Amino acid sequence: MKHKVTYKKPFGFLKILHFRRYIARAGQSIKRALSRLSDRHKIDKLRREFSANVSHELKTPLTSIYGYAEMLEGGMVKEEDKPAFIHKIKDESARMIALVEDIMFLSSLDEGKNVKVFEKTDIAAIAAEACEKLRAKADEHKVRLSFNAGGGAMFKKGNRSMLLLLFVNLIDNAIKYNTSGGLVRVEAARRGRHIWASVSDTGIGIPKEAQKRVFERFYRVDKSRSKKTGGTGLGLAIVKHIALLHHAEISLQSHENIGTTVTMVF
Ligand SMILES: Nc1ncnc2c1ncn2[C@@H]1O[C@H](COP(=O)(O)OP(=O)(O)OP(=O)(O)O)[C@@H](O)[C@H]1O
Ligand SMILES: [Mg+2]
Repeated sequence: MKHKVTYKKPFGFLKILHFRRYIARAGQSIKRALSRLSDRHKIDKLRREFSANVSHELKTPLTSIYGYAEMLEGGMVKEEDKPAFIHKIKDESARMIALVEDIMFLSSLDEGKNVKVFEKTDIAAIAAEACEKLRAKADEHKVRLSFNAGGGAMFKKGNRSMLLLLFVNLIDNAIKYNTSGGLVRVEAARRGRHIWASVSDTGIGIPKEAQKRVFERFYRVDKSRSKKTGGTGLGLAIVKHIALLHHAEISLQSHENIGTTVTMVF
């Protein structure tokens, strides 16, 4: 008599295994969905903050311009005061133009535009050019500006005009937030495969709690001082973006009333 051999699959065990895997996968998908949701929430929040900041920063100079023009039109300004009023209108307009240009540049970076040309660029030569551009401003502020490169060309793949803007922004800060008789040192050196560049100053420094925020858009430690110097708080946000595009590491060390050093490793 033949026996029909029936093989009993361990259904119970496999089912549990499948079920556990299914639960684990579902859990991961839920986690991913939640993280996407919170990312989107964060982006939405940043967008809202950005629009509120832009509106505020534009409204302030526009309100001044409107006020000065209204006073001139109403004949409320003495003849001898007119040049000063016209100068103020010009100053505020220049501030607005600079702000709009910075915003447009940042949004073009956000959208990945402007990044077409990446060529062999000499970091040391660009840093030297930025120093020359700002030499007159340094003299005006009675700040000594020195440049020191470890000799020879220091080539890396990069976008020339963006890198120039990066150094100009850093040196501009080092001059603006300095004190009369202070020093700004710009250095570049090759270390192995990398190029190190730094901008250091002997200026007012940045308080510890503000150091991680200075790279945020529109963040200014001392709004009144920054406004006096024509700052909009976008310079370091632009610097950070450009460094990121060049895969450069950027770090900041600062001590109040001693000075600030920003270092980049390309
Ligand atoms: N070298 C520095 N020394 C002291 N404070 C600095 C220095 N660099 C930046 N800061 C502080 O960080 C803030 C942000 O700098 P950022 O360059 O982004 O803006 P800004 O200089 O105010 O304006 P902008 O660069 O748009 O003209 C400044 O307002 C200033 O308070
Ligand atoms: Mg600046």
